[in-house]
Amino acid sequence: MAYFIGVDVGTSSIKATLADEWGSVVISAVRSYSCSHPHSGWSEQDPQDWCDAAIFAVRELVSLPEVDPSAVKGLSFGGQMHGLVVLDATDEIIRPAILWNDGRSTKECAYLNEVIGREKITQWCGNIAFPGFTAPKLLWMREHEPEFFSRIAKVMLPKDYLAYRFTGAFCTDVSDASGTLLFDVRHRIWSRPMIELVGLQDGQLPDVCESWEVIGTLLPEVAKRMGLSPSVCVAAGAGDNAAAAVGMGCVSEGQCNVSLGTSGTVFLPTQAMRLDAKNALHSFADATGAYHLMGCILSAASANDWWVKGILGSDVGRELSRIEVDLLGRNRVLFLPYLMGERSPINDAGARAAFVGMDLGTTRPDMVQAVLEGVTFALRQSIDAATSAGIEVKHLTACGGGAQSPVWRQMMANVLGMPVSTHGFEGGPSYGACLLAMVGCGVYPSVSAAVRAVVVQPTECAVPTTEVVERYEDRYRVFCSLYPALKDVFALVKGDM
Ligand code: XUL
Repeated sequence: MAYFIGVDVGTSSIKATLADEWGSVVISAVRSYSCSHPHSGWSEQDPQDWCDAAIFAVRELVSLPEVDPSAVKGLSFGGQMHGLVVLDATDEIIRPAILWNDGRSTKECAYLNEVIGREKITQWCGNIAFPGFTAPKLLWMREHEPEFFSRIAKVMLPKDYLAYRFTGAFCTDVSDASGTLLFDVRHRIWSRPMIELVGLQDGQLPDVCESWEVIGTLLPEVAKRMGLSPSVCVAAGAGDNAAAAVGMGCVSEGQCNVSLGTSGTVFLPTQAMRLDAKNALHSFADATGAYHLMGCILSAASANDWWVKGILGSDVGRELSRIEVDLLGRNRVLFLPYLMGERSPINDAGARAAFVGMDLGTTRPDMVQAVLEGVTFALRQSIDAATSAGIEVKHLTACGGGAQSPVWRQMMANVLGMPVSTHGFEGGPSYGACLLAMVGCGVYPSVSAAVRAVVVQPTECAVPTTEVVERYEDRYRVFCSLYPALKDVFALVKGDM
C-alpha cells in the first residue's frame, strides 16, 4: 500500500490530507493561522506561518498508528492563488505576502487596463488586470516600497513558497502561474512583455511545470521534521481551485464545480483555451493539461462566518438550522457580499457589503439567510457569464466548507436552477493535490485517468423545485440591480476613517 499527501495552503488554514493509492482518504488535519488587514481592503499573511502549519499538519497525519510513514511516496500542493511572496538574495521574506483578496492595487490595474489597454494585456496574458493578481501588486510595491522592490531575488506564489522550503526547487505550475498576470496562458510560458513592464529580471520568476510534474524530493531536515523519508517525491501542485476541481472529478467540458470557501468560485474546464469577451471570467491553464474558465467572488463562506461568528457571536450550525426551507425565495432582505470589494463580474475593489430591504418584521434568520443568498446570487452571475460566453453547464458539483450545509446546497440548486451534487467529505484542493502526487509518482498515467480511477461519486444531490426557482429568479433580478444603484455610494463610504 502506498500513501500520498496533499497540502492545501488556504487563507484561514493549512489542510493536509492523506489518501491511499486507490483514492480513499485515510485522515485529514487542519492547522489555522491568522490574516491581517492593515487597511480596509488589504490582506496579508506571514509565509512562515504556512510553513510551520504545513509541517505540523503533515506530522499529525503520519503520527496515526495505522499509517506507516515509510509508505508515503508522494506529496503535492493546492494553494491560495495570486499571493505575492518575495524573497531577497539570502532567501529572507522581504515583506508579508499580499493575498488574492487584497485590493490595494486599483490604480495599477487602471494603468494596465486603461493605459496599456485591455486588448494588449489580454493578448499577452489571456486576462485583464484585477487587483488581487500578482503583477499589479508588484507594480504597487515598485511605487510604494521601492527599497523592498529593489531587494527582490525571487517572486513566488504561496504553495510554491512551501515547495521551495520543502525541496529547494524554485518552481510553479501552469494553473497558479496563470493568475499572476505575468504568464502567457495560451502558450504556458512567462510573458516577456509583462515581465519587462513590471520591471522584473530573468531568474526572479520560478520555472514553470505542469501540475503533476515532480520537482524534487523532500530536503532531509524537512523530511525529519515531518516524520517522512527524504525520498518522498514532490509534485508541483496547482492553484487551489484547479486542485479542487481535480479532487471533485470536474475535468471535462460541461462540468462545473462551485467552491464555497473563503472565496467563492465557479470553475469550468475547457478543452481549448477560451476567452470571456466581457472579462467577467478568468481564463487559466488547467491542472489536467487543458484550460478552464473561472469566476471568483472574494467573500463566500467568509461572509457567512463574518456575519454569524463575528457579528452575531454565534455558531454557523445553530444559525443555519433556523432557516426554514419553506422560506427559500421569500426573503425580502438582500445582501451584497462585497466585504473585500469584488472580482467577478464587477471588478471593483472599492465596492463594499450592504444589507437592503429590512423592516420591523425582519428576523435574525432572515438576515442569516440573506447572507447565504447574496453569496449564491453573486456566484450565479459567474454562471450566467459562462452561459453568455457559450458554455453549457450540464453537471454541477459543490465543494468547500459552505457546500457541507444541506440548506445552502438546496438554495444553490434553486438559485442556479440545476441539481447540485457533492461528496460526503469536503473534497477540494488537498484531495486533488493527493491525486496530482499519484500522477507524479506514476501510479496513474494522467490526471484524467486518476480521476476516472479514484474520484468517488457524489453522495448528496440537492434538486431544484420549479416554484422556488421562479421565486428566486425574481429576487436575483433585484439583486443584480443593487450594485449599479449603490456603486457611487461605495465610492463615498470606502477608505480608512
Ligand atoms: C481565485 C482566487 C481565490 C483564491 C482563494 O482566483 O483568488 O479562489 O485562490 O484561495
